[in-house]
Amino acid sequence: MFMFARRTDWQLTQNRYSAALDRARKRGPLLDLTASNPTQCGFEYESEAILKALSCPEALLYEPQAQGLASARQAVADYYNKHPVRAGAGEISAEQIFLSTSTSEAYSFLFRLLCNPEDEVLVPRPSYPLFEFLARIQDVKLATYDLFHDHGWHVDFAGLKKAAGARTRAVLLVNPNNPTGSFVHSAELRQIASFCRERELALISDEVFLDYAVESSAEMSVAFEDECLSFALSGLSKLAALPQMKLAWMMVNGPVKLRDAARDRLEIIADTYLSVNTPIQYALPQLLSQRERIQAQIAARVRKNLMALDTHLAGNKAIERLHIEGGWYAVLRVPATQTDEELAIELIDRDGVVIHPGHFYDFSGEGYLVVSLITPENDFAEGIRRALRRF
Ligand SMILES: Cc1ncc(COP(=O)(O)O)c(C=O)c1O
Repeated sequence: MFMFARRTDWQLTQNRYSAALDRARKRGPLLDLTASNPTQCGFEYESEAILKALSCPEALLYEPQAQGLASARQAVADYYNKHPVRAGAGEISAEQIFLSTSTSEAYSFLFRLLCNPEDEVLVPRPSYPLFEFLARIQDVKLATYDLFHDHGWHVDFAGLKKAAGARTRAVLLVNPNNPTGSFVHSAELRQIASFCRERELALISDEVFLDYAVESSAEMSVAFEDECLSFALSGLSKLAALPQMKLAWMMVNGPVKLRDAARDRLEIIADTYLSVNTPIQYALPQLLSQRERIQAQIAARVRKNLMALDTHLAGNKAIERLHIEGGWYAVLRVPATQTDEELAIELIDRDGVVIHPGHFYDFSGEGYLVVSLITPENDFAEGIRRALRRF
């Protein structure tokens, strides 16, 4: 029999949730409260300027550079240097930036840089479900540390320390986290960065939602963290709501010698692929310059949907909407009378409403649902109304 690599031994049959979703879609339209593709959520993009930026004549020439074109990297450095969370930190140079096609690709480069096969990285739980795949494809193992909810979400630092073993190579942060919406707070960062320095671990922070403050604001970015070897990841997909452009970056920081050693090695990895296309690199300064206008539309949508959600929940003692510091998701704490998957399937089958069960994000128990706050407003309000009827 033909042998595929063991790392591809995935469960390829549909799970119950996706099977229910497929069946329901065949029956008719659903109200999808998981919509998170901003290009299909009714926002107004500056289409002409975007298309014009992509047709720059210089893009006809191929001049490969491992880290990415200097003009594009400078635009990313400017983004950080003007960011409110910089607060007196030293200036970031374009030399510290590596472009990639996505944060997913950035993770894979970093796992290649930092981990031998079977080494581990520590990831928060609950969090972004793609980590499992990103790690496994690179023969890296995941260990988790908990985020716990007690008047807001906090990093279980004692648990993080315990989870770090002899094969741990890096600690991952998601700032703000998807889906809990919790920013990493400055005091938490100090503890974690010191721990990483002492244990010679790298710190990787996924900051794709950094600019989407909701009920709190960001306190810091790991882009400015120089106590330990650190990497801040972001990109156009969330920052400028342009996931189709496939442009992201890693910002390398840390003690100078270590940072330079990491850069030299990362340069070879990046040079091996040269994966970012030229037109998008020339377009980057223009696409980044539009981010505030699209971010404002998204922030308005998030606020409106959150208000609708809170209005529907007023007086409903069975459900709690958890505080959202940032990002564009809301977590609902619901009675755990069945598994989240069963509940999500019932919502699809009986109410025609699509909502993510908490187990997609590895919540530690049952009783969590996750909705996207960038869902078009009418769908959101009607979907929430229908879903809440059952509680
Ligand atoms: C936390 C987090 N990181 C990264 C991404 C994806 O970024 P990219 O499109 O750059 O791979 C997502 C997308 O949902 C996300 O939620």
